[in-house]
Amino acid sequence: MAAFFSSPFLVIAHRGASAEAAENTLPAFARALAVGAPAVELDVYYAHEQLWVIHDDELDRTTNGTGRLEDHSPEALRRFDAGGGAVIPTLAEVLELIGDRAAVNIELKGPGTAAPVCALLAQRAVPTEQILLSAFDHRELVTAKALAPQWPRGALFGRQVAGAVEAARALKATSINLADRTVTAERLERYQAAGFKTLVYTVNDRERARELRDWGASGIFCDDPGAMIAAVHC
Ligand code: G3P
Ligand code: MG
Repeated sequence: MAAFFSSPFLVIAHRGASAEAAENTLPAFARALAVGAPAVELDVYYAHEQLWVIHDDELDRTTNGTGRLEDHSPEALRRFDAGGGAVIPTLAEVLELIGDRAAVNIELKGPGTAAPVCALLAQRAVPTEQILLSAFDHRELVTAKALAPQWPRGALFGRQVAGAVEAARALKATSINLADRTVTAERLERYQAAGFKTLVYTVNDRERARELRDWGASGIFCDDPGAMIAAVHC
């Protein structure tokens, strides 16, 4: 079984192997598995009682559709091309594809995603150690913690990292997930000393990845996991 944080430095396929296939599609996750990524990250929204794996709440950037996700019926959403002929997958489809072959970071992008995600994970009897739930909107993690505290949580931060340790403590988070531009060796050390894993996004520069590894980061999100695994595990 693929457990999160099972290696000292985790290479996480960001939106799947998104450098090689359309982001957040089944081919991108299949490619991540094929190159041996130990973990994948995906983004999820809830609309029409379904969990959709897509980064934006609008279709324009990643599909041939336009407008808001929630303004289209499920049938219409499935007709859009999310890249290379792939559809917008549901979370259940991605979990089915991955099985026990990789750990999964589910980023709760949309409002109201925590409850249906926790319900789906329970329904599928996914092992808790395979999953990390994360969100920039910490209210989703508060909901997840209240409803189903067994799922490990990662507190995501953007530009603003002041109070990160206190926020992560309040969420009983496993990890603090940081934008690369906010990361320093001192900050990583402080967060780790406070008992948190540290994951850094999005790191595609191999030298920078090695530096973060040497500073003690727990892992990185990258778009080309095959190349990155070769670069950091040497
Ligand atoms: O969770 C790491 C990363 O995915 C956060 O940023 O915009 O790529 O979802 P974004
Ligand atoms: Mg994401």
